[in-house]
Amino acid sequence: MRIALLGGTGDVGEGLAVRWRRDTDHEVLVGSRDPERARAAAETYADTVRADAGDETAVSPEIAGYANEMAADRADVIVLAVPPYHVADTVDAVTDRLDEENVLVTPAAGMQRGEDGFSYHPPGAGSVAALVREHTPESVPVVGAFHNLAAGRLADLDAAMGIDTLVFGDDEAAVSRIVRLAEEIDGLRALRAGGLGVAPEVESLTPLLINLAHENDDLTDLGVRFH
Ligand SMILES: NC(=O)c1ccc[n+]([C@@H]2O[C@H](COP(=O)([O-])OP(=O)(O)OC[C@H]3O[C@@H](n4cnc5c(N)ncnc54)[C@H](OP(=O)(O)O)[C@@H]3O)[C@@H](O)[C@H]2O)c1
Repeated sequence: MRIALLGGTGDVGEGLAVRWRRDTDHEVLVGSRDPERARAAAETYADTVRADAGDETAVSPEIAGYANEMAADRADVIVLAVPPYHVADTVDAVTDRLDEENVLVTPAAGMQRGEDGFSYHPPGAGSVAALVREHTPESVPVVGAFHNLAAGRLADLDAAMGIDTLVFGDDEAAVSRIVRLAEEIDGLRALRAGGLGVAPEVESLTPLLINLAHENDDLTDLGVRFH
């Protein structure tokens, strides 16, 4: 499978890229608005995976960098790894590259910082997932996943995962595909959370986790395991 990470030059893109390349045979396409930045990031991620394998001379892992549009065009699954307020523009830039064979994945949560900490601040559509749905052709399935994973923990290949991620969407086949893809990351369990309408409940976990990590010294890169 080919997985495109649009905005894959950022924190969550790096974490997902190195985990999928280390733990699976999938090809990872790092996307960026700037293809040179994408290629540089892809090389860095490949170095990380080689170093983790303990073999600096190993064949280069299948990670390559492209402009977002090209990455989306070549991929089966496309992850929108960009800040929430730029998700709509990013979808608009690639929408003519998508069809019903693709799955568009949103990990984004809208937040704002106040005196008391971070709070959930969804876009006018009601959630980032709803905004993505509005900007995506109806035939292309949209799935939410990976909101509650700390990028730092993902990118540190020495860190055990041992946590859950919540997956939601209206297209059962697409949700199943992303559940499988998530669970191919060692130590990650994917739980189905419902249809796209549950997006606010899942997205609002992100500010909660960030606040807990800020308020408690030993909870850096916090994750959740549901028992
Ligand atoms: N960080 C986390 O721990 C974490 C965990 C789970 C989910 N998330 C979600 O994942 C998404 C990405 O988070 P992140 O921390 O990886 O973000 P980030 O590092 O701040 O940004 C990711 C990438 O987005 C692109 N970008 C920045 N401004 C943009 C714009 N105006 N238009 C289009 N692309 C732009 C940049 O790529 P180029 O400049 O190369 O195009 C950047 O490298 C967010 O929606 C966040 O809510 C984050």
